[in-house]
Amino acid sequence: MTPITVHPLTQRIGAEISGVDLAQPLSGDTFNAIHAAWMQHQVLLFRDQNLSDPQLETFSARFGALDRKPGYSADVVDTTTSDFVCVISNVKIDNKPIGDLGDGEAVWHTDMSYNPLPPLGAALYALEVPSAGGETGFSNMYLAYEALPSALKTRVQTLQCKHDATRNSAGLLRRGMPDVTDPSHSPGTLHPMVRTHPVTGRPCLYLGRRRHAYIAGLPLAESEKLLDDIWAHASKPEFSWHHSWRKGDLLMWDNRCVMHRRNPFDPAARRVMHRTQIIGDKPFFKPAAPQTAEAHA
Ligand code: OGA
Ligand code: MN
Repeated sequence: MTPITVHPLTQRIGAEISGVDLAQPLSGDTFNAIHAAWMQHQVLLFRDQNLSDPQLETFSARFGALDRKPGYSADVVDTTTSDFVCVISNVKIDNKPIGDLGDGEAVWHTDMSYNPLPPLGAALYALEVPSAGGETGFSNMYLAYEALPSALKTRVQTLQCKHDATRNSAGLLRRGMPDVTDPSHSPGTLHPMVRTHPVTGRPCLYLGRRRHAYIAGLPLAESEKLLDDIWAHASKPEFSWHHSWRKGDLLMWDNRCVMHRRNPFDPAARRVMHRTQIIGDKPFFKPAAPQTAEAHA
């Protein structure tokens, strides 16, 4: 069996994996090599794949049990038969979208972090893509954390942030959610703003979405100011990379240490993507053990 090749796409995030057909069952060695590359590069790109929904599910379920798809925004009429395949598309049938997020910008976010157990990662597979636009950006939250000014780094370690459940990254209200105005009262889940990655042990910023975020225990104005400062830092291009899609691409991101976004594209173009998401664990922060005198000796 040919070993896979791992080709880093930037110094900061992302690697392309070649030499594997994801429609076929993966050997233990191949899976382990892919998993190790994923932990090292946070986002993996596989090109020229040809996957049915069941094959996408089988591949992504190697990384853990699949999570159910999130609630779509109000208008979406889902045409899939799976509880686990989420459609991201602007295509409309009878004036109703077959998937979520439309054709506009999707702002920086982490998927489904309004849940107590957010997915550990996701796989997004391109069935139809526009010739330009609709690029997806990924940002390395280990690097963003490491580059924080030291006073801010110490401060965020102690804070918890509420991840709002009401609107998706295209700004659309999720089905059944109230349209709240005060972020401190929106439905969602509190998570530590710095989380320790459960596999790599490395700390990273964990922000979710800016809209309706709220830092627990702070007056609203102070929470807004601190969030603006942290988001201005975390959104810097020096931590990120944007991918230009081709049909047959599959991208996997580690949803614990990566944020993603999407550029807008021509509303007249068709874009159809199928996504699976893998159940994760409860975010936690474990401060690094202080170095002992012996460690220095
Ligand atoms: C997602 C997502 C962006 C895109 O699938 O979670 O944010 O590029 N997609 O479609
Ligand atoms: Mn997303």
